[in-house]
Amino acid sequence: MSDQQDILLQVTGVAKTFGGLKAVDDVTLALRAGIVTTLVGPNGAGKTTLFNLITGQLVPDRGEVVWLGNSIVRLPQWKIARLGIGRTFQDLKLFSHMTVEENVTTVTERGSWLWQPGGAAAKAARRSSVEAALEATGLKDKRHARAIDLAFAERKFLSLARVMASGARLWLLDEPASGLDPGSYERFLSLLRNSVRGGVTICIIEHNLDIVQGISDRIAFLDQGRLLAEGEPKTILSDPALAAIYFGERAA
Ligand SMILES: Nc1ncnc2c1ncn2[C@@H]1O[C@H](COP(=O)(O)OP(=O)(O)OP(=O)(O)O)[C@@H](O)[C@H]1O
Ligand SMILES: [Mg+2]
Repeated sequence: MSDQQDILLQVTGVAKTFGGLKAVDDVTLALRAGIVTTLVGPNGAGKTTLFNLITGQLVPDRGEVVWLGNSIVRLPQWKIARLGIGRTFQDLKLFSHMTVEENVTTVTERGSWLWQPGGAAAKAARRSSVEAALEATGLKDKRHARAIDLAFAERKFLSLARVMASGARLWLLDEPASGLDPGSYERFLSLLRNSVRGGVTICIIEHNLDIVQGISDRIAFLDQGRLLAEGEPKTILSDPALAAIYFGERAA
């Protein structure tokens, strides 16, 4: 496979300013198929904003976002989602008063009509993708519980179940493991590894360096809106200048 064919999503020269603040400043980054790319960087580095620019929550001031060779800049969010780009949110955005099963089912509904494309076969496929996601995330027994009544880790797994059931080919995960206990994050890591083996591509925002080390094929390091480095985990994680920025020891 050539380098170009390998790329699922290409972000080129993307920028977003809020007032005078350069939240994302001329970022160029390729997400390669079938691997895990981790976005790391201090709070406020622009990681979530970069996700928002990819998924259409925000439109870049300039720059390009190309999915499988086609520009997706300025497409509405729902169209970008249907192309196969799924995401989770830092604040989860679950439907609190819906059940676990209903939360997951929402991503498989293609419209509000009783009749949906594909008929009975498509309906059965949607059902089985919900079941598979509940099974993989360990939420089967909680299917009738409301999201608001779940424990913290269960809520995190529910947000993951939603992206799993969507059938998205690229998963953008915004701190999906933050606050998990070590037992849960082992389960979480093996779930991600299995998903990548199954053909999914992942871009994950993560602060916990054990998890970063455990899951990443590539690491992209953002700081103050700029992509400072991108490369192999061992190169990025052993760079003393990046470590100084990450741990807040930046020179004034
Ligand atoms: N909608 C917005 N309006 C104004 N400023 C924003 C908006 N969204 C983000 N920002 C600012 O842009 C900068 C980048 O924010 P962003 O949320 O992308 O950072 P982050 O890297 O995800 O940080 P964290 O690790 O804390 O989640 C921050 O200074 C933030 O306050
Ligand atoms: Mg963020």
